[in-house]
Amino acid sequence: MKAVVYHGIGDIRLDSVPDPTIEHPTDAVVRITASAICGTDLHFVRGTVPGMKPGTVMGHEGVGVVEEVGSAVRNFRPGDRVLLSAVLGCGSCAYCRAGYFAQCDAINPNGSRATTAFYGAPAETGPFDGVQAEYTRVPYAHTNLVHLPDEITDAQALPLADVYPTGWFGAVIAEVSDGDVVAVWGCGPVGQFAILSSFQRGAGRVIAVDGHPDRLERARTLGAEVIDFNAVDPVAQILEMTRGIGPDRAIDAVGVDAESPKEGPAADRARRDDERHREELAEIAPRARPTEGHWLPGDAPTQAHWWAVESLAKAGTLGIVGVYPPSDRFFPIGRAMNRNLTVKMGNGDHPRYIPRLLDLVKTGAVDPEKVLTRHEPLRDVLGAYQEFDHRSPGWLKVALDPAR
Ligand SMILES: NC(=O)c1ccc[n+]([C@@H]2O[C@H](COP(=O)([O-])OP(=O)(O)OC[C@H]3O[C@@H](n4cnc5c(N)ncnc54)[C@H](O)[C@@H]3O)[C@@H](O)[C@H]2O)c1
Ligand SMILES: [Zn+2]
Ligand SMILES: [Zn+2]
Repeated sequence: MKAVVYHGIGDIRLDSVPDPTIEHPTDAVVRITASAICGTDLHFVRGTVPGMKPGTVMGHEGVGVVEEVGSAVRNFRPGDRVLLSAVLGCGSCAYCRAGYFAQCDAINPNGSRATTAFYGAPAETGPFDGVQAEYTRVPYAHTNLVHLPDEITDAQALPLADVYPTGWFGAVIAEVSDGDVVAVWGCGPVGQFAILSSFQRGAGRVIAVDGHPDRLERARTLGAEVIDFNAVDPVAQILEMTRGIGPDRAIDAVGVDAESPKEGPAADRARRDDERHREELAEIAPRARPTEGHWLPGDAPTQAHWWAVESLAKAGTLGIVGVYPPSDRFFPIGRAMNRNLTVKMGNGDHPRYIPRLLDLVKTGAVDPEKVLTRHEPLRDVLGAYQEFDHRSPGWLKVALDPAR
């Protein structure tokens, strides 16, 4: 089959690889009908989240049709339309039972103390071959597949694999509730769903920050008050908009590839931090390097954290869903501690939230498809990765069709 294969930092290829097979009785094999590219995939190719094993199939967002099931799978059979949860759990251990699927005790072959298991990710996450492919093996299929009703299209379902549950999880861990003023840092696909989810959880105001006008414009259509960090100082602007109090809640939807402002009043202040950011990046991701203008790491790994912490109201809450590798040890803890902030973070417990979000989509209350601004054939995947990597206008989120 055709699959996007990781070969090294800055080197992914569309290769022919063997079809996956049932390896355990709880497995299913799914024929993928749509997959997508996530900001997390960019961290891997840029090398800012290290540890990918060459040969791993990329991608963790997928929709498809069950091709084959193992003997222990009792809730799916060949022909069923399914959504694949990006985050994987066993459904039986104490963590899964408590809803902490991202910290499942059983599914990661590296052991119970190992990190979140998900497809197409570094060796320490499994690794499990990913879904930017024609077929995928799904472990513990009873928990990691979700039935899709006929009335939900692939494009409507695809954001439910990862970016919507992540945005929702961000609003949960940031403790967003009725009337809150929420700052969402980053308006990529995850940020867009963090904005939507914050409103769904009762936020009074959502202030959204990014440096890309097309992404901010989308955030504005969701009802967010938008701030371009290349035009104004986002911290000063947020304080002005909130009577100097700051937002109650903040969600980091940026991750380790955070950028510093390149123009505007915030750029001067950021330039003074250039040296520190360079040192941080060198320590966090020593092997990250751009190739031919692509896969450029963000130049300021802690930028979003500093801004979020500086602008939050006293005793406010920060929810971090942006991804940072284990080598990152630079969070501004002193600033946060002295203002009694609560900081929660992690990978989303997707199987816990997907069913209720799918229900919202079914009712028509949410049309998540709008985030998918590009639909490309899998054969054009490398070009699509590069456009998404460059955050080219109009390339907010790419859906990939293996059949085209
Ligand atoms: N925790 C989870 O379970 C989970 C799941 C999916 C994705 N993620 C992570 O969420 C993050 C966002 O994912 P995405 O797909 O939306 O990626 P993305 O790269 O498309 O979005 C990141 C956005 O942040 C903006 N940005 C950069 N620097 C900024 C700054 N200093 N302040 C504000 N905005 C800034 C960028 O312009 C971009 O629009 C990534 O780190 C990804 O790995 C986490
Ligand atoms: Zn993702
Ligand atoms: Zn488990």
